[in-house]
Amino acid sequence: NEPQIIQLPKFLDERGNLSFVEQFTHIPFEIKRTYWLYDVPGGECRGGHAYWENQELIIALSGSFDVLLDDGKEKKTFHLNRSYYGLYVPKGLWREMENFSTNSLALVLSSTKYDESDYIYEYDEFVKLKQDGKI
Ligand code: TYD
Repeated sequence: NEPQIIQLPKFLDERGNLSFVEQFTHIPFEIKRTYWLYDVPGGECRGGHAYWENQELIIALSGSFDVLLDDGKEKKTFHLNRSYYGLYVPKGLWREMENFSTNSLALVLSSTKYDESDYIYEYDEFVKLKQDGKI
């Protein structure tokens, strides 16, 4: 249940490199959805929220960006800049994404379908829920 960088398989080839990810083999959840972030203007920040249930694997398919994770007590920043690394984000963490490089592309594999009621949008509410052991 800890966030961690997962190194994905990579096949280096003169014709171009190839990487892949399989549910349950490289990540501990079934993939129900994928989405991606692109054309992010310099200086923009995405994803200031937490999820009750959703788990994710975040991959910098192109370029680089930072993912800030916060458990209500401790904050950690993960810099993603290789397409064969994924950041596993368990449920119940505050997460933000920032410092997107020009033309960066963030691919996100998710354990749930989109459900607005799974989001916690208010940081103060998130910290209180953590303190009360509700999330
Ligand atoms: P959101 O997850 O709130 O992104 P951010 O926290 O970076 O602003 O998503 C932005 C909008 O996109 C939201 O209004 C709903 C829509 N959306 C979907 O319809 N399906 C999805 O899978 C995602 C991730 C977002």
